[in-house]
Amino acid sequence: MDLQKYGPWALVIGGSEGVGAAFARMLAADGFKLVLVARKPEPLRELADELRAKGTEVRIVSADLSESDVLDQVRKATDDVEIGLMIYNAGANNTRGLFVELPEAVTHSVLAITVLGQANFTRHYGARMAKRGHGGIILGGSLSSYLGSPTLAAYTGAKAFSRIFSEALWGEMKPLGVDVLHLNIGFTATPAMARLGMPVDLAEPPETVAREGLDNIANGPVWIVSTPGNVERARMINGIDNRAETVLTHAIVPRDQTAQAARGQHKLAEQ
Ligand SMILES: NC(=O)c1ccc[n+]([C@@H]2O[C@H](COP(=O)([O-])OP(=O)(O)OC[C@H]3O[C@@H](n4cnc5c(N)ncnc54)[C@H](OP(=O)(O)O)[C@@H]3O)[C@@H](O)[C@H]2O)c1
Repeated sequence: MDLQKYGPWALVIGGSEGVGAAFARMLAADGFKLVLVARKPEPLRELADELRAKGTEVRIVSADLSESDVLDQVRKATDDVEIGLMIYNAGANNTRGLFVELPEAVTHSVLAITVLGQANFTRHYGARMAKRGHGGIILGGSLSSYLGSPTLAAYTGAKAFSRIFSEALWGEMKPLGVDVLHLNIGFTATPAMARLGMPVDLAEPPETVAREGLDNIANGPVWIVSTPGNVERARMINGIDNRAETVLTHAIVPRDQTAQAARGQHKLAEQ
């Protein structure tokens, strides 16, 4: 990763485990200084200790992205440094259900983290990168951005926002010297997925996903992680005809049927 263009500091939002931790380790190996954000302090501290032991300067921020003052909290750790790369990784969904029956707090959290969070952090850090004339932004996305999936209405809608937002932003920021990438992820073996009981032995390793994101930061606006079947699935469900049939036949399978389906003929695009 080009330290001159995207350094000297990288901000990894959702940077304590899974894909976020893989990004952090790879960037540290390339000489970046890091600011890592997540809620649980202990995994953040453990990763920071591991990276500091190898000589990397690391700052950690324990904050909840669904809180309205989260950007202010993160800014306290970044206002005096140059963030050349912002990776907004957090945003998985852990609650499914009929939209009209789910508690308002669930919807608020999904929209605050993925829609408002990606927009607010991008405005702040993107403006500073544009002023300097270089930098990079990776926004965490999902194959589910191509299909409104029953029981995941807010999540799939929020990921669609992220993908379309990234496309427009890519067009605006490219002439300003800033690369924007929506990293479109399929089923990945993260601790968050394992905690939900998903069959992560069948999923893409987080290191593969992070590597593809970094290697393709200049190949935006959208990069679909090259797990076999991902691109084909995106193409198939992105067709504009027969949306009714598409929604009904290609919706993300409920979790209790996921293992069975994943061991069958097709790879899943779980959150
Ligand atoms: N795993 C998959 O199969 C899959 C598939 C498609 C797309 N994706 C996308 O890939 C990204 C990463 O997913 P993931 O499975 O690793 O789970 P995730 O929970 O979105 O991300 C994990 C990281 O984000 C932090 N985080 C989560 N919620 C947070 C919050 N409210 N405030 C601050 N930090 C928060 C976690 O630490 P704390 O828990 O300590 O906060 C951890 O560091 C997401 O955008 C997801 O939509 C994942």
